[in-house]
Amino acid sequence: MDKKSTWDRFYTEASSRTPAFKNFEWFCGFSSVRDFILPLLQTRSHPDALLQVLDMGCGTSALGPSIYRESALPVRVTCADISPVAVRLMQEHVRVEAFRPDNPSSQIDFVELDCTQLDKRFGSNSLDLIVDKGTTDALLRSKEGVGKATLVLKQCLRVLRSSGSLLQFSDEDPDVRLLWLETAVQEQGVPAAGVGVQEVGVLKGVCYYCYQVTPNM
Ligand SMILES: C[S@@+](CC[C@H](N)C(=O)[O-])C[C@H]1O[C@@H](n2cnc3c(N)ncnc32)[C@H](O)[C@@H]1O
Repeated sequence: MDKKSTWDRFYTEASSRTPAFKNFEWFCGFSSVRDFILPLLQTRSHPDALLQVLDMGCGTSALGPSIYRESALPVRVTCADISPVAVRLMQEHVRVEAFRPDNPSSQIDFVELDCTQLDKRFGSNSLDLIVDKGTTDALLRSKEGVGKATLVLKQCLRVLRSSGSLLQFSDEDPDVRLLWLETAVQEQGVPAAGVGVQEVGVLKGVCYYCYQVTPNM
């Protein structure tokens, strides 16, 4: 589940099923996760600065566009995915819909990017928030599994500001995910980092969680 070709095929097939574009949510729409995200976008490091947000493995989800639309403070939301098909579908969708953000200075863009190489696009300590809805789950279920997911976590910690947060939305049980996150964060040598979990809710009988990693608690 980490192969570009697999995801390209998935988004090509999903988009061919309906003539009009429809966002596809792997699980949980924005209304379920909004209250975990928007409170983290209420202060900025500098009065003129845009808050920098990354939706990592955005697919064709409405998550990134919803953050862009609803954030009261100005944000730059980068929606990134390894699948150029998903990226193209989203670029076209946003162009056609011409979304208006609550804050007129907010910006959004969609980029093809392998999240194992975040540092090729983002500088160290440059992002305020990274949201990951189902992407680490997909990486953990791939052949390279934990190794790849750990590499991505390391990249996230590198590009996040010390005041920033990584939110992973997932159905993985806290017994498993927390142990992995705590061990991986320690191995990265980020002694002040904190890891926490909150329940998002139960959807179609599956419980979803929000895991939060903060480089500097
Ligand atoms: C389970 S889907 C979740 C999509 C979306 N976040 C949602 O909630 O519907 C995982 C997404 O991660 C993307 N992905 C997989 N490996 C990736 C990688 N190495 N870098 C960036 N995106 C990746 C896939 O293309 C896919 O869109």
